[in-house]
Amino acid sequence: MLDLVAVAFWAMLPAYVPNNAAVLAGGGAPIDGGRTMGGRRLLGDGKTWRGTAVGTLVGVLLAQGLNLLAPILSRTIGVDLPTFPLAAAVGLALGAMLGDIGASFLKRRTGRERGAAFPVVDQLDFVAGALVCTALFDLAWFTDIFTLPVVGVVVVLTPVLHVATNGIAYLLGLKDEPY
Ligand code: CTP
Ligand code: MG
Repeated sequence: MLDLVAVAFWAMLPAYVPNNAAVLAGGGAPIDGGRTMGGRRLLGDGKTWRGTAVGTLVGVLLAQGLNLLAPILSRTIGVDLPTFPLAAAVGLALGAMLGDIGASFLKRRTGRERGAAFPVVDQLDFVAGALVCTALFDLAWFTDIFTLPVVGVVVVLTPVLHVATNGIAYLLGLKDEPY
């Protein structure tokens, strides 16, 4: 069980970090360029080119760091932690950003203003995006690492981590809302 949690957390790290990096790097031109659909913004000012690019890059670079750490850490804790091929790293990081962007699209369509909470979607949008993109970019690696039990742990563990990290970011004044 602890092995499962360790692998799930490790394998998702390149997907967890991009959204937090985007919060720090955000600003500048919105992706939707101000365009609207049905009287509401397509995505809103909270989804920017800079935040998305920096978030993706940070996730991919983190995966390279984890690749260096994996052998040593695996031996130390006695768990076989996976390394990330480049396609998988890009899938996890870019997919997390795209999932979050997709959620903003849904938020605007359902009348939610920028920053409004969308429970469950807020916590799992980037998981869905990361898993789908990783499967598309490197199916062999995806099926090898994200077994059904690992995916199960990810789906349970991620909302807990998401609420905790966003709460901390809010208390530190880095984020406007605690979700
Ligand atoms: N951010 C960004 N680009 C992204 C994602 C996030 O620039 N692709 C930055 C923005 O500054 C954003 C902040 O990170 O305001 C917080 O992200 P998030 O909570 O996802 O956006 P919200 O502003 O809450 O907007 P939304 O309601 O659309 O989620
Ligand atoms: Mg938000």
